[in-house]
Amino acid sequence: MGTRFLPLTKVQPKEMLPVVDKPVIQYVVEEAVSAGIEDIVIVTGREKRAIEDHFDASPELERILEDRGNGDALESIRRITSLAHLHYIRQKAPRGLGDAVYCARHHIGNESFAVMLGDTINIADVPVVGQLMNAHRKLGASVIAVERVPRHKLRDYGIIKGRLKDRKTVEIQKLVEKPEPSKAPSDMGITGTYVLTPAIFDAIERTDPDANGEIQLTDALTLLGKKEKIYGYLFDGTRYDIGDMFLWMKVNIELTLKSRKYGGRLRKDLSDM
Ligand code: G1P
Repeated sequence: MGTRFLPLTKVQPKEMLPVVDKPVIQYVVEEAVSAGIEDIVIVTGREKRAIEDHFDASPELERILEDRGNGDALESIRRITSLAHLHYIRQKAPRGLGDAVYCARHHIGNESFAVMLGDTINIADVPVVGQLMNAHRKLGASVIAVERVPRHKLRDYGIIKGRLKDRKTVEIQKLVEKPEPSKAPSDMGITGTYVLTPAIFDAIERTDPDANGEIQLTDALTLLGKKEKIYGYLFDGTRYDIGDMFLWMKVNIELTLKSRKYGGRLRKDLSDM
């Protein structure tokens, strides 16, 4: 519900918060598309209509931009509508990430699929979800993105424990959702990009809600791990979590500094300030 972003997110979903020049959710969709994914389900809920509108055509706006000869802006909004086949499924209540994934089961059927969080931006030469898809093809099993996390942050993440199979791949033996740092089984945190086998749906069905009544995907993965191998993957690239107001401000500054269009000007203005 975006409570960490109020009043910013009183009427707009947090997935629509701007980062540099587009909303967070557009980065997520663009990453999927650049990894070759053509069919995307966005699990939304009440109050999140703006996400659907963002990816939909906007005839009035297009007409005005056309009349004014504003080709660049026109191209930028037309491109958004043709990125991929987008479908929307509403989660009836915020009952956790596992439940959100479960909402898409009829659409997905009996295939492996990727899960990407709407508040996480990955910047990498090879899209992070594409790195996981390659690992999934090789291993024939579920693969989840992980990175090393500082101790004081362990309680914000799902943490895995496992055995390094090679430099990047960890065979997972244990998963714990948001442990106390003293109880964390390692420093490898789940970053929010997953490629999962369809057996996860049966595991989600068998997962009990946590203390807050939410079905955690991490808990379902623990059950899946009893039937199939699961791997963690130390991906190449940088992951930005848009988890609270400060992180969101910081990611804006960092990515604006990196942008070809605005980076130089911001660097100069910041040093003047
Ligand atoms: C979710 C997952 C958690 C993961 C995190 C990454 O938690 O449940 O395992 O580490 O995303 O951002 P959330 O941040 O949605 O509470």
